[in-house]
Amino acid sequence: MSGICAGRVVVVTGAGRGLGRAHALAFAAEGARVVVNDLGVGLDGAPDADSPAAAVVAEIRAAGGEASAHGGDIATSAGAADLIRTAVETYGRLDTLVSNAGFLRDRMLVNLGEDDWDAVVRVHLKGHFLPLKHAAAHWRAEARAGRTPKARVVHTSSGAGLLGSVGQANYSAAKAGIIGLTLVAAAELARYGVQVNAVAPAARTRMTERTFAATMAAPAAGFDAMAPENVSPLVVWLGSAGSAGVTGRVFEAEGGRITVMEGWRPGPTLDKGARWTPAEAGEAARGLLAEAEPPGRVYGV
Ligand SMILES: NC(=O)c1ccc[n+]([C@@H]2O[C@H](COP(=O)([O-])OP(=O)(O)OC[C@H]3O[C@@H](n4cnc5c(N)ncnc54)[C@H](O)[C@@H]3O)[C@@H](O)[C@H]2O)c1
Repeated sequence: MSGICAGRVVVVTGAGRGLGRAHALAFAAEGARVVVNDLGVGLDGAPDADSPAAAVVAEIRAAGGEASAHGGDIATSAGAADLIRTAVETYGRLDTLVSNAGFLRDRMLVNLGEDDWDAVVRVHLKGHFLPLKHAAAHWRAEARAGRTPKARVVHTSSGAGLLGSVGQANYSAAKAGIIGLTLVAAAELARYGVQVNAVAPAARTRMTERTFAATMAAPAAGFDAMAPENVSPLVVWLGSAGSAGVTGRVFEAEGGRITVMEGWRPGPTLDKGARWTPAEAGEAARGLLAEAEPPGRVYGV
């Protein structure tokens, strides 16, 4: 198949449903050979009899594309290593990693159990780190062998990670952590020909269709802005060789809108040149806050 990813091998985690499925289909439509990973879990991470990766592979093949299924858990080192190895052994190379898998355990902070915290931070944050680490080791070996790749990594954050979201302390912390991971990975891996960016999507999937039913509903006619397929074109471009020079960036993608998110940077500042007293520090902080941009609104407030 021809397209902007012709000849590339792409791994998409959590690609059995929702956004990951849309990304996998879109990469295949642009000529990529795709490893469709999905463990097949319920909305809260509980084991699910369903194995959705094989169905997406069948869809890609039916459309004339090439794909393989992988059913491992990307939040384990063994699962992540096996995923990267599967791509390299099946197709002889790896060009793009899209980390997308995850689930929710929403609770207000005072009710949030330690297990809810651990499960969500594990699947999102560790589930981004481990595939990245194994893919990076592969690309470093390629670069050292004189075959510097045009490798691309696309991470999945969330508005919850960028601005905070009521009832999602575990998820917001994990998704904010993914931004930190993205920035460090972009800086460290540039020397091996690897670019690392993140998207914060919004789309109608099982994760959002009930909680945000009104926002997510499909219109009776016209552009279906919340269809997950609307997020995939940017992800495919970031995962293609054509995105050369773009790294360490965060984009929001929703409907027909793409937004570059501009992150933390120094705002108003004051240097006394000596240690403040607490009272003085408070006065200085209030003065600086009066000059500063107000923060973005936390979702759900
Ligand atoms: N839908 C939105 O509006 C939205 C907004 C912001 C961020 N996101 C993020 O986008 C990503 C995709 O979410 P979605 O809305 O498509 O949800 P989804 O539930 O439809 O898809 C997630 C998939 O990940 C799989 N998965 C979960 N744990 C896994 C593991 N350990 N190993 C492999 N696969 C695993 C699930 O089986 C599921 O098929 C998530 O990271 C989510 O946090 C979604």
